[in-house]
Amino acid sequence: MDRLQCVLLLFCFSTCWYPLQTLEQAALHFAVLADWGGLPVPPYYTPHEEAVAAEVDSLAQTEGVDFVLSLGDHFYYSGVKNLEDPRFKHTFERVFSQPSLLHIPWYLVGGNHDHKGNISAQMAYSDVSQRWKKPLAEPGSMWAIICLDRLGNYPGLYYDLNFNVPHTNMSVSILMIDTVVLCGNTYDQTQPTGPEDSRAADRQWNWITSKLASSRSAYVVVAGHYPVWSIGHHGPTSCLVNRLRPLLKKYRVTVYLSGHDHNLQFIREDDGSSYVVSGSGVVSDPDTTHKDSVPQSWQLYSSPVNHTIGGVAYFQVTEHKMTVTFMQTNGKCVYRTELPTRIVRSNGML
Ligand SMILES: *[C@@H]1O[C@H](CO)[C@@H](O)[C@H](O)[C@H]1NC(C)=O
Ligand SMILES: *[C@@H]1O[C@H](CO)[C@@H](O)[C@H](O)[C@H]1NC(C)=O
Ligand SMILES: *[C@@H]1O[C@H](CO)[C@@H](O)[C@H](O)[C@H]1NC(C)=O
Repeated sequence: MDRLQCVLLLFCFSTCWYPLQTLEQAALHFAVLADWGGLPVPPYYTPHEEAVAAEVDSLAQTEGVDFVLSLGDHFYYSGVKNLEDPRFKHTFERVFSQPSLLHIPWYLVGGNHDHKGNISAQMAYSDVSQRWKKPLAEPGSMWAIICLDRLGNYPGLYYDLNFNVPHTNMSVSILMIDTVVLCGNTYDQTQPTGPEDSRAADRQWNWITSKLASSRSAYVVVAGHYPVWSIGHHGPTSCLVNRLRPLLKKYRVTVYLSGHDHNLQFIREDDGSSYVVSGSGVVSDPDTTHKDSVPQSWQLYSSPVNHTIGGVAYFQVTEHKMTVTFMQTNGKCVYRTELPTRIVRSNGML
């Protein structure tokens, strides 16, 4: 590759200047959002939440969205009371209501606000909802879900998802983890206060470790509510920095996804460990309180520092790479980067 191409390529990678349409078509596509939980008072949603829903709709119509990962804080400020809670309708169904979204499955994990209410009711909702429940796979459907056919999409507090990149043998594993069980609730402090049930936390840590140790997938994603690294209001979660981060490195996890701070961030450590925060579902927060808690050279993008409004993180996974795109709520791509398969990262060995 000559130098000009190289410079152009670098330019493209960091500025979204190549259109998504030129990316390979045989891809698995998903959107990642969190913290879209509306308001506890009428109208129970925010204008920003509506704009995020419109952005997911637009992605679904143009590029395709095979599923949504929803990483907690679905109902401010205290979750739902029970399965009949009208917030399911007011904060979710009537906001993410575009026709293109009606057949896209949502996979969820709880956030601190969900755990203040009845988290079992959110799991139970996945058994009755047409939205949180996978519709029957259509013939020729571009995605395959293993083992979850008869279950709601929120079968337990933590669970794993396994997909294939269409027309390839490249597998994508996603561990959906409950960081509130692992680290505790925040009770309005910035840091979680330690697990309420340490045996439940240990069971989940063991599950995470054994899943990561046994995975041979080309891409492994771990997704939870609290961030490992963040420069925003809450900042890094020390419980996850201490305990999850070493696992992400040891098992060469492709990327860790979270919400909690209400912004979009892409952070990459020098060894390639990558972190996405996509927590601007309800509002876009300009707070950069913890800017000095994360080494400057790792902060490749953040919506408050780069003066953009939040939106949604969009992933396209092909045989060769995982492309991460941040779309802000007016439909503008504000950041794009690429992550390699684990095979590349580990020189052919898994
Ligand atoms: C939580 O919601 C479920 C489903 O509606 C219900 O059966 C259960 O009683 C609720 N728990 C509490 C403590 O209200
Ligand atoms: C997937 O793997 C099978 C068995 O190794 C092989 O026969 C097939 O050609 C592969 N398919 C693709 C699309 O790589
Ligand atoms: C984001 O802002 C930082 C700090 O001003 C800057 O170094 C970086 O190039 C920006 N990134 C993008 C993709 O605009």
